[in-house]
Amino acid sequence: MIEDTHVMDAPPEGAGADWTVPQDWAHYTPQDHATWNTLFARQAKLLPGRASDAYLRGLDVLKLSKPGIPDFEELSERLMTLTGWQVVAVPGLVPDDVFFDHMANRRFVAGNFIRRPDQLDYLQEPDVFHDVFGHVPMLADPVFADYLEAYGRGGQRALGLDALKYLGRLYWYTVEFGLIAEPEGLRIYGSGIVSSYAESRFALDDPSPNRIAFDLARVMRTEYRIDDFQQNYFVIPSFDELLRVTVETDFAPLYEQLKAKPDVPVAEILPEDEVLTRGTQDYARAKA
Ligand SMILES: [Fe+2]
Repeated sequence: MIEDTHVMDAPPEGAGADWTVPQDWAHYTPQDHATWNTLFARQAKLLPGRASDAYLRGLDVLKLSKPGIPDFEELSERLMTLTGWQVVAVPGLVPDDVFFDHMANRRFVAGNFIRRPDQLDYLQEPDVFHDVFGHVPMLADPVFADYLEAYGRGGQRALGLDALKYLGRLYWYTVEFGLIAEPEGLRIYGSGIVSSYAESRFALDDPSPNRIAFDLARVMRTEYRIDDFQQNYFVIPSFDELLRVTVETDFAPLYEQLKAKPDVPVAEILPEDEVLTRGTQDYARAKA
């Protein structure tokens, strides 16, 4: 996740220069493992028929159904064989350059704490359930694994181009909250959705949000909400296409074009959008 909040200036005590810390698996309490198991059981029941094939395959090949919080070393061994990725623990949100450096080198940074039992449904800071259950299965997919590495390298370049706002939105609307059109229908693959009991239903079933065909420039102009369900979901046709667009686009001139255009407010539909579902926005209105 790329957020400005809670990012520290220097690695905290006990962290390496690259901000990683030992996962310290032995320190999880039985309560911590029980929280993971509760969350896991609830999502595992809900996701077949909702999550993308790639996500469900990842959950399976990484053997994430083994009870308790996964051991990052064990998980990294499996991932390394499949796609060359590893999972490393960090103490919280890390600075953008650190985040991109890890990603460009196929290291996924994951929070090592788990939410409290009274926070099962809502947590703003990414914990081990969000990061591992939400993100890691997709890293077992070779195409998505390439996409994330390309994203990390793109992030390193964007740092020097004053363009993080735009690239952050691409992450948000794909890695965190993406939908994909599969032959059987729309499926979720974004980690923020697959790790949320309520949003894994809302994103697919609720009439409120817009569901719009993915367009790179459009996505990068679009604002988003971090504190509630999304009002827009962007739908990719395939992971191959997402990767292709990302590696074939020359981002530097695109950023310059985007800087000359206004940002698009959440929920707004543009005349050029290919709208798959025009949302009622009832959910957002009821909350306003
Ligand atoms: Fe995330």
